[in-house]
Amino acid sequence: MSGDISSLLAGVHKHASEWFQTLRTRPVRATMSADSLREMLGGPLPLEGTPPERITELLAGAGMRGTVASAGPRYFGFVIGGSVPAAVAADWLVSAWDQNCAVFVHSPLVSVIEQITGSWLRDLAGLPASMSFGFVTGCHMATFTGLAAARHRVLESAGWDVEDKGLFGAPPIEVLVGEEAHYTICTALRLLGLGGNRVRRIPTDTQGRMRAGELAAALRGHHGPAIVCAQAGNVNTGAIDPLAEIAESAKDSGAWLHVDGAFGLWAAASPQHAPMLRGIEKADSISTDAHKWLNVPYDSGIVFCAHDGAHRGAMSLAAAYIMATEAERDPHEFVPEESRRARAIPIYAALRSLGRRGVAELVERNCRQARRFAQALREAGFEVRNEVMLNQVVVSFGTAEETQRVIAAIQEDGTCWCGGTVWKGRAAMRISVSNWSTTDEDVEMSIEAILRAARKHAGKAG
Ligand SMILES: Cc1ncc(COP(=O)(O)O)c(C=O)c1O
Repeated sequence: MSGDISSLLAGVHKHASEWFQTLRTRPVRATMSADSLREMLGGPLPLEGTPPERITELLAGAGMRGTVASAGPRYFGFVIGGSVPAAVAADWLVSAWDQNCAVFVHSPLVSVIEQITGSWLRDLAGLPASMSFGFVTGCHMATFTGLAAARHRVLESAGWDVEDKGLFGAPPIEVLVGEEAHYTICTALRLLGLGGNRVRRIPTDTQGRMRAGELAAALRGHHGPAIVCAQAGNVNTGAIDPLAEIAESAKDSGAWLHVDGAFGLWAAASPQHAPMLRGIEKADSISTDAHKWLNVPYDSGIVFCAHDGAHRGAMSLAAAYIMATEAERDPHEFVPEESRRARAIPIYAALRSLGRRGVAELVERNCRQARRFAQALREAGFEVRNEVMLNQVVVSFGTAEETQRVIAAIQEDGTCWCGGTVWKGRAAMRISVSNWSTTDEDVEMSIEAILRAARKHAGKAG
């Protein structure tokens, strides 16, 4: 068996290496249609098994053309990072070890690495050393976990045990979110029975930042359970809410403060950008993604919580056969899942490989590159619609149709990939610079490709 797996893994190594080698030069878009992929991979479920080498070859062939080079240096769509090599390598080990990491006895290694990684992350982001943490699939689940802890705590303060009794007959919870909150805030609230649409929306400024004064007014005189959801990193503009003022209002009214820092939290690692996040250390819970700006493979999100009891109270479960270890950390106590992948290990590897300085440089480089995109687009006469304070650029190329045509042409060209959005009611294109391997040459090459498409399709060429 071990001989078999060695040659199989050697084959995988070859295929994966070839894929990585073409990442910089291949078209960024997929070059195989969904129908061709179905034809290549589908058909009826085979009655007999297929040798693993053959499966690997089949997948590797499909992967060469059916994947998007979103891990590569010229992918600027959504907010998607790549993976630093150390994290990819660690992720391979995670698959090889196949550890369950619910409780300490499943895997002492995972429990210990979670502890180390969580404390490094807190340190990197300037968060209190007392914050608990959990490793989940992504920011949505991190938000779900943080808001479950919030629900526990604010109802507990009102004398209600939500885990025991549910929400039937519970005191109402006032939930306040910025007008530009990410939609996953509302889906998390929905999953928690708090309703995705019964939230009170607080107006935002031109960049999407919650207006702290409006929040203070909304909370003034409020008594009873309340949760405020702020954001560090608007998905379009990158704007960060005024967290210090928001934290103060939340504290004054006894509300729980959750901060969605899916990608913006990483800016705290940069001395240059950290002041923008002032006040985040006062949050009751924070959600973020390692698979975005830390450049760790999917899927990887993290939740931090200032109230260990509420965090565990909302998440932990007990069964006679679950062998809790008093003196050690049982990872499942902090996440919604029971059995799960050892997600902290690639994060550990990324942090160890980049170091504090490497994360700061990654953030600062990508922000500088975003500013360069904005400068080139403005100079060419196109409308950059946000203050580029982080790694996001929002640009419109005339009418909605013109903007859509430019985006389609950029994607078809394949030099780089940018996606569409609607910002303040108007169609726009979003450039998110989030990849560790993006060089200044990649940026210049991408600017040329964007300007080529824009000059052809934007109507009023710059
Ligand atoms: C601000 C913000 N919050 C939450 C999310 C959801 O993250 P995930 O898809 O990892 O769950 C995103 C994703 O882009 C985001 O930008």
